[in-house]
Formats: sequence, C-alpha cells, structure tokens
Amino acid sequence: MSETTVRADDRAHVFHSWSAQGLINPLPIKGALGSYFWDYDDRKYLDFSSQLVNINIGHQHPRLVAAIQEQAATLCTIQPAFANDKRGEAARLIAGLAPGSLNKVFFTNGGAEATENAVRLARGHTGRHKVLSTYRSYHGSTSTAITATGDPRRWANEPTAVGVVHFWGPYPYRSPFYASTPEEEAYLAAGGRKAEAARALHLERQSLYLRLHRIEELLGVSFDDEDAVLGLHLAVRALAFRRRRAAA
Ligand SMILES: Cc1ncc(COP(=O)(O)O)c(C=O)c1O
Repeated sequence: MSETTVRADDRAHVFHSWSAQGLINPLPIKGALGSYFWDYDDRKYLDFSSQLVNINIGHQHPRLVAAIQEQAATLCTIQPAFANDKRGEAARLIAGLAPGSLNKVFFTNGGAEATENAVRLARGHTGRHKVLSTYRSYHGSTSTAITATGDPRRWANEPTAVGVVHFWGPYPYRSPFYASTPEEEAYLAAGGRKAEAARALHLERQSLYLRLHRIEELLGVSFDDEDAVLGLHLAVRALAFRRRRAAA
C-alpha cells in the first residue's frame, strides 16, 4: 500500500486519541526492527520511548514474533473463566519477579483498565476510598483513570468519579514551586514535611535512573553525566518531532 493511501485512509477514518482531528497529520510508519522504525521514505527514527514505553525488548523481536505465530495457530482466544497453559505460565513467570508475597496476576487489555482495577482492588482491600494522584500525570481515559489523571485532559470529563485528590509532585525540571534544587523542590512539594520530601526525591531519582539505564542499553554505552544524557534524550525527541512536522 502506498504512503498516499495510508495517509488518506487514516485521515478519512481513524479517530486518533487526545487530538483535535483536523489539526493532526500522523506520519505513516512502514516498518520497524529493534530500536528503530522507519517511514515511507525509508527515513529511520531511533525509538527512544519504545513507542508508548511498551516495546522494551525492541520492535519485531524474532522470538516474540515466533511465539505469537505459534500461539495464533494453536488457540487465538479463550474467555476468562477457563484456565489456559500460556496465561498460567505467563502469570507464574511474572509472579516469580514480583516482590514479597505478590503471587497473582490479573491480566487486563491496557493501561486504563489496569488503573481502574488497581484502584478497585485497593479500595476493596483497605476499605478506604481516597486516591492521591499528582497533577503531572496521565492514568488512562476510562472513568476512574481519567479522574486520577492530573493533566488538562481530565477537565472535559469533570465532574467524574469521587474520591480522587490531586497534589503537586516534585518536578525540578519545571518547578511549580520555583525551587532551585531538587532538595528544595521535594521539601516544598511535601508542604515542608521532611520525611515525605526525602521519599519523593528518592522516587524521582529512581525513575530518572531507570530512564538513563534504558538509554545506555539502547546505545550500548555508559554515561557518567546525568544532565548530558537527559539533554540528549530531549534533543532527540525534539528533533524527531520537528522532522515529523516538516515531513507532514
Ligand atoms: C502511566 C499510564 N497509565 C495509563 C495509561 C493508559 O493506557 P492505555 O492507553 O493502554 O489505556 C497510559 C498510556 O499512555 C500511561 O502512560
């Protein structure tokens, strides 16, 4: 199929999430392998964000493709009330990696559904209703998930589910508190409470290290300077965005 046809079908019939449909012109992607995907001019893009952070083993991994092909030929679908060899095996392997006594897996179709069910399970288990979520967050488009979402996508859905309270989490890069250091940011975000500030800072740093480690893995290098790597990451994303706009 030509790029022109892909664009025409997309613009005529595909409704893209969270977008003003008349203002977008999505870039048609022809294929992908490993860390790269490419367009119809064979221009390659390094996929720094693993699509929506969900292709962490790379595109078209041959073992994954073979496993999907094999399963499709054996059994394509089975409803939740039955037991199944592959679902049981996947659950056992995930449980083996989960911390502590966590040993059951509830499979869902996507992120929003996972959020909905996690909140429901937590409320059922604790008997408590309130959910705390940061303003700088996205949790999905279904009822509880969009209520928990802090960013402006929530606004059009309000009033929504009750029991969710938003707060400003620490974010030194664009500090909502005009802080000049991560320590000050965490302290102010925690309303001056030192223990909460230390914990928030720790979580933010953990997430930063995970992102840095992923970039190191992708590039096969090891970095010392966090700021340089973050700068590189943002620059590559900005470049890819500008190229897409130029090509559109
Ligand atoms: C943190 C987070 N939670 C939930 C979701 C929603 O996932 P889905 O689109 O699969 O419903 C996303 C999607 O981007 C996400 O990034």
